[in-house]
Amino acid sequence: MSSKIPYVKHNNGTQIQSIGLGTYTSLGGDCERATLHAIDVGYRHIDTAYFYENENEVGAAVQRKIAEGVIKREDIHITTKLWCHFHEPKRVEYACRKTLQNFGLQYVDLYLMHWPYSYVYRGDNEMMPTDAKGEVELNDIDYLDTWREMEKLVELGLTKSIGVSNFNSEQLTRLLANCKIKPIHNQIECHPALNQKKLIALCKKNDIVVTAYCPLGRPNPAEKTPNYIYDAKVQAIGDKYKKSTAQVVLRYLIEIGTIPLPKSSNPKRIEENFQIFDFQLDAEDHAILDSYNTGERLIPMTHAIKSKNYPFNIEF
Ligand SMILES: NC(=O)c1ccc[n+]([C@@H]2O[C@H](COP(=O)([O-])OP(=O)(O)OC[C@H]3O[C@@H](n4cnc5c(N)ncnc54)[C@H](OP(=O)(O)O)[C@@H]3O)[C@@H](O)[C@H]2O)c1
Repeated sequence: MSSKIPYVKHNNGTQIQSIGLGTYTSLGGDCERATLHAIDVGYRHIDTAYFYENENEVGAAVQRKIAEGVIKREDIHITTKLWCHFHEPKRVEYACRKTLQNFGLQYVDLYLMHWPYSYVYRGDNEMMPTDAKGEVELNDIDYLDTWREMEKLVELGLTKSIGVSNFNSEQLTRLLANCKIKPIHNQIECHPALNQKKLIALCKKNDIVVTAYCPLGRPNPAEKTPNYIYDAKVQAIGDKYKKSTAQVVLRYLIEIGTIPLPKSSNPKRIEENFQIFDFQLDAEDHAILDSYNTGERLIPMTHAIKSKNYPFNIEF
């Protein structure tokens, strides 16, 4: 089935499947089971992070599928991320090696800087270090200094590619003007309520692929949020193509130029989220989906608002 799924080319010549499995909050065996099932379904792109504390589960699933002969290592693209307490240049290689140990793998395909801002280091497991007032301890490490160390990881063969996440237009432009290796991705929050068309256009102009996190807006069936998953208008689009509202939203994200990363640990929904390559939305459907774009964020990370590298205080 995976052969029918389109791939996207990166600025360094590598390629990636145009949908990925999200894994945030998948824990306690769920992540391993989800990854195993996703690989069987045809997913060849898995998104995780040191912060999610499930790199070991992704690694175990990938290794099992390699041992079973279902995939070769080079068939699957694993993205993971450097957390904010590892930004000090002297910790970057250490953090990446620790991540590889978690996976039990020799290399990852893509290592992202998870956020442009950083925290004080108080130990590997203190991922949200707080002061006596309970506030997260920020520090002011320049993301360019962190990036230079990430470039070395490519030279060392610990990751095939490097990229960023949650970088705004100014941060991305500054990075592009000062890097030796260009980022291949900017992973950003993106869904109909925050469709990010301006940032996507900037990334496209610079040959940077956008991956869309929270692509479904973290559906809450009890509260019927977000509205675009539960609205009759999106349901009507789905009825037209015999698709669910979630599938319509994922298709929209692909058509506006992103790679969506829907998280699921439910086998049926893992399959459902993959069945989005056999239909196309028309201009009217796009106009309806565009109408949900309020600009509201699900993940504003306001605890970091005082950092000079906080990314969400400009338009995009
Ligand atoms: N770079 C960053 O800063 C950042 C931030 C946040 C997330 N991410 C990445 O992006 C991924 C996706 O974001 P997210 O997990 O926050 O949000 P999401 O994918 O928008 O939503 C996940 C939720 O949607 C449910 N779901 C999945 N498929 C569904 C479907 N077809 N119909 C209805 N509900 C469905 C899941 O439940 P079930 O599991 O029960 O199916 C889960 O509760 C993350 O897992 C992570 O890999 C990155």
